[in-house]
Amino acid sequence: MSAKVVLPVTMKGKTVLVAGGAGFVPSHLVELYLELGARVIAVDNFITGSPANIEHLKSHDHFKFIEANIYEVDLEKPLSSIDGKIDYIFSMASPASPIDFSKIPLEIMRVNSEGTLKMLELAHKHGARFLEASTSEVYGDPEVHPQEESYVGHVNPIGPRSCYDESKRFAEALTMSYHRKYGVDTRIVRIFNTYGPRMRPDDGRVIPNFINQALKGEDLTVYGDGSQTRSFCFVTDLVNAIHNVMFSNDTTPFNIGNPDEYSIRACAEEIIKVLGSRSKIIENPLPKDDPKRRRPNIGKLQAISNYRPVVTFEDGIKRTAEFFRKKSCH
Ligand SMILES: NC(=O)c1ccc[n+]([C@@H]2O[C@H](COP(=O)([O-])OP(=O)(O)OC[C@H]3O[C@@H](n4cnc5c(N)ncnc54)[C@H](O)[C@@H]3O)[C@@H](O)[C@H]2O)c1
Repeated sequence: MSAKVVLPVTMKGKTVLVAGGAGFVPSHLVELYLELGARVIAVDNFITGSPANIEHLKSHDHFKFIEANIYEVDLEKPLSSIDGKIDYIFSMASPASPIDFSKIPLEIMRVNSEGTLKMLELAHKHGARFLEASTSEVYGDPEVHPQEESYVGHVNPIGPRSCYDESKRFAEALTMSYHRKYGVDTRIVRIFNTYGPRMRPDDGRVIPNFINQALKGEDLTVYGDGSQTRSFCFVTDLVNAIHNVMFSNDTTPFNIGNPDEYSIRACAEEIIKVLGSRSKIIENPLPKDDPKRRRPNIGKLQAISNYRPVVTFEDGIKRTAEFFRKKSCH
């Protein structure tokens, strides 16, 4: 059993690097560490992230942004202007939306393999603690519910999602290899479906799809009959979970997310209700390899921390819809 997580009261004097820092989840992580007083370096090439996600942070004294492709650039050059060492590295750079799997599969495979390797080399050199943002997709179309960390998965290696699933599995293997061979202090989180402000409205994931359809008064499209389930975690709850894992002393993977499970149809119905929309629900064909159920068992993290998701689905939907409303006005 791991020791209880002790969260730092302040991160003053510490340097944190967030690869993919202009992305949806990572930009919220950048904010958390700036709030805790750390110096934060974000690296991003904007392949799926956006300058708008970090615009408000640019004038912050402790924030530095490097525009770069992490698997192509030698980061030591832009980092040479920084005094002292990097203490924490978050390996978050990867497109994560299923619409990207067919558009940019090779970029996905390269960032999760070569990009993760570069970040691990950097962690080794600086003696930094390293956290890999893996995914529930490493479980594939699971035969076990809910999925515990010990489940080794059911992934189709040549399916349309494999560029993501398999490269994340490779990233986990690489992380464990660096830990075993070089003693790099590593952590792994397996992130389950997350939503919230700063998602791309057109990124194809179910929550932004439904909210934008509901806001425009269009029909909400469920795939299949909508009986497949997902568990949705609001982004601030997820970032809090990542923070807890980073400060645990356990190098094995942690599931993180919100275990409340909804059928996709129930989710669509709730969004219509919360937003007071007149939209209807229509059915589209189910994509190949779409997982039938998805629900994290987060007992492992809860056993060693006070972590629990606190944002209700209703509140999270309202906050996300507010972001999309404002975005559509600009
Ligand atoms: N959002 C989720 O529900 C979810 C679920 C599971 C795992 N994850 C993981 O969490 C991380 C963040 O996901 P997100 O949903 O915020 O996605 P996102 O696309 O918004 O963020 C990823 C960021 O990485 C950047 N990036 C990608 N390739 C890069 C490269 N080669 N060099 C530099 N920057 C690069 C993108 O431009 C983007 O800003 C990813 O690793 C993803 O796989 C997210």
